[in-house]
Amino acid sequence: MGASVYASVTSESGNRIKGATSTEMAKPKIVLAYSGGLDTTVAVPWLQEKYDADIITLTIDLGMVDLESIRQRALAIGAMQALTVDGRDTLANEFLFPSLQAGTVYEEQYPLATALGRPLIARYLVEVAKEHGAYAIAHGCTGKGNDQVRLEVGIAALGPGIDVIAPIRDWGMSREDEIEYGQARNLPINANRSRFSTDENLWGRSVEAGELEDPWLEPPEDAYAWTSPVSETPDEPAYVEIHFECGVPTAVDGENMAGTDLINHLNTLSGAHGIGRIDHVENRLVGIKSREIYECPAATLLHTAHTALEAMTLTKDQARTKARIALEYADVVYNGLWFTAHRADLNAYVQSTQRYVTGDIKMRLHKGTGTVVGRQAPKALYNYGLATYDRADEFDHSSAEGFIKIFGLSVRTENQVQSD
Ligand code: ARG
Repeated sequence: MGASVYASVTSESGNRIKGATSTEMAKPKIVLAYSGGLDTTVAVPWLQEKYDADIITLTIDLGMVDLESIRQRALAIGAMQALTVDGRDTLANEFLFPSLQAGTVYEEQYPLATALGRPLIARYLVEVAKEHGAYAIAHGCTGKGNDQVRLEVGIAALGPGIDVIAPIRDWGMSREDEIEYGQARNLPINANRSRFSTDENLWGRSVEAGELEDPWLEPPEDAYAWTSPVSETPDEPAYVEIHFECGVPTAVDGENMAGTDLINHLNTLSGAHGIGRIDHVENRLVGIKSREIYECPAATLLHTAHTALEAMTLTKDQARTKARIALEYADVVYNGLWFTAHRADLNAYVQSTQRYVTGDIKMRLHKGTGTVVGRQAPKALYNYGLATYDRADEFDHSSAEGFIKIFGLSVRTENQVQSD
């Protein structure tokens, strides 16, 4: 991928910045993954001061980010260059849909939204670092989560010579310290941050911390942002038809849609019916159990629909083996091992299974649940003539008797010999 995907600073500010730096000795460069929040905003002067470096910020839109305002903020706090990239379609096509095809849901609950975004963020960071000759990449992850592992393992895979700096993990500042540090340097800081820690991309919203750390406490309504409480969802169900081509959703209600639009559309539709709320006590990679709330309206709906289409088109053996692969694939994604031969191998198997996973799934959305109510597939293994109890029945009943004799032979033998 070339430089063109990254929107750079506007020409006036670019010139101003270039003019300012050209008279000075070039400093080493650090690329910072910049969200615009308190942590990464404070990180800009902290990195400049501690490493005597110029900071290039990179802000990535994986869902619903206002790139322009964050870019302006980065420049205002002294970034040498503020880069942005719209990674939404890449996220959908290269990470979310392969994961959907694989059926990866961590610990049977979490569709892995945050976990699927991290390898792409690592990839963009490494590309920018290489392009701009930066010696290090800095990120705003804490030392307790999975995300530091995912980013740093991703960077190790794609840019092995690049150093990693994790200011929040290193600086030992409390939230109050950060605010003081920022205010002393006149940074534009918004001190009334939510009491929850959140992360969002197309595939879902992750919410943790605050009172959610008490696993006995029901999540307060304001922990949710994408889904309606069931008490406020429509009384009438809505119906939606999702079309898949080889396991990838390509149309909704007869209208062709690309990755980002399709997922956004289903997030809105499904969220309005309260679908996709998940309350999960999960096993983190770093050995901690954590209670996390997720809102994944589109991902929940799509996984249910995709599994239903596979029930029509995969053989029994394929379906069972694939379910085992899905467990492993989910752990691989959760554990930050996207850029590995092991994932590529698992993915090759999954891709092979998707050849005939083409067709339509009809779903009813009502009061927090998306239910499959209809399915059709041109290459379905479902056979009416074999399944029916009506006159059209083609199943050979006479062969059932012999089959059962053989099938039950070992049971009969066991009983004859070992019944005492
Ligand atoms: N626990 C989830 C994961 O490891 C989400 C972490 C997201 N971070 C957050 N600030 N809520 O994938």
